[in-house]
Amino acid sequence: MKSVCISGTGLFTPAESISNDELVACYNAYVAEYNEQHAADIAAGALNPLPPSSSEFIVKASGIQARYVVNKSGVLDTARMRPTIRTRGNDEPSLMAEMGVAAAKQALEAAKLQGSDIDCVLVACSNMQRAYPALAVEIQSLLGAGGYGYDINVACASAAFGVQAAVDALRNGSATRALVISPEICSGHLNFRNRDCHFIFGDAATAVVVEFTETAKGQRNFEILGTRLQTQFSSNIRNNAGFLNSAEVPPRPWDDVLFRQEGRKVFKEVVPMVSELIAAHLADLNIEASGVRRFWLHQANLSMNEYITRKLLGRDAERSEAPVILDEYANTSSAGSVIAFHKYQQDLVPGDIGVLCGFGAGYSAGSVIMRRI
Ligand code: COA
Repeated sequence: MKSVCISGTGLFTPAESISNDELVACYNAYVAEYNEQHAADIAAGALNPLPPSSSEFIVKASGIQARYVVNKSGVLDTARMRPTIRTRGNDEPSLMAEMGVAAAKQALEAAKLQGSDIDCVLVACSNMQRAYPALAVEIQSLLGAGGYGYDINVACASAAFGVQAAVDALRNGSATRALVISPEICSGHLNFRNRDCHFIFGDAATAVVVEFTETAKGQRNFEILGTRLQTQFSSNIRNNAGFLNSAEVPPRPWDDVLFRQEGRKVFKEVVPMVSELIAAHLADLNIEASGVRRFWLHQANLSMNEYITRKLLGRDAERSEAPVILDEYANTSSAGSVIAFHKYQQDLVPGDIGVLCGFGAGYSAGSVIMRRI
């Protein structure tokens, strides 16, 4: 089998950021308005008052301090509490394509390639902004790439699934150089009026170039030693938004077509699934967990990642072994593990092993084991 590597990564970060305090102030203003509007029912015992949110809880429960968003003013307007995104015409690049292209251009530059060198574009992320045409085909056109493109959605694990699809395409001869792009506008599917999860997500886009090691020209290449994917059905993270919504009788409540989860259950069920997946994948490649220089894990919850690395290493991981970006970015779904990879790879030297792992709704999990060359 020909050796395949990741030869470039890219990251697009939106210009605006919301701190926990700003988000909580907005949520609590909404709660005060709601409780005042329903004061009579609350006093009569017919309705429970909404409890406030707090920055202390958010940091303690998740490790998140802030999140980047494509639009801040809409999210922080108590009358709206969702991003305000201009409706674009069909002759304009879509917002997700624009973000994806920005990340892709950086990844191409790192790999010393042009758009026209790519013949497989995979958009791998949790939400596509329209049903069709595929975003990947739009991005392929914007980059001047050849070949083909298609979209992949396996929620937060999408990027790892995309990397495996790219590796398979190269080895099967259906492509020679691939881009896996993960544009995530998570603020668009987040219910900012739900105290349990209003703080969870942020927006970003990432890209990685996958090509044959032999011909890669990038300065910092990571040989892909193996990829492994796993799925197991669960409704504990679910979003019922879909093309049948307008046909469904009775119509779903507005908050049923946004993200929702049973956070505690997810935590308990996904930690063992992911640690076992990585442990088995490393064992099959004859690599000791202690021999891994870096774990670029999905960025949803700090303690979740600490549990996973503790299970793998039999001790607490140093921050430098399992870098954290969720404090600044929150959960950016499929982009999270790639953001960690993008930001924390410069100090790795030839021979160093790293594991990139995304996991989330489905449940789904994907591991990519790499060696710096
Ligand atoms: N502010 C203050 N208190 C809050 C709150 C908020 N925003 N949200 C919930 N609480 C309260 C709850 O009411 C509950 O109070 P109680 O103990 O009096 O009943 C308490 O805090 C604990 O709530 P819980 O929902 O059990 O918190 P948690 O510790 O499980 O943390 C998550 C919540 C979502 C941060 C955590 O479960 C998580 O991250 N899970 C993994 C999710 C994940 O990885 N998902 C992948 C998505 S892609």
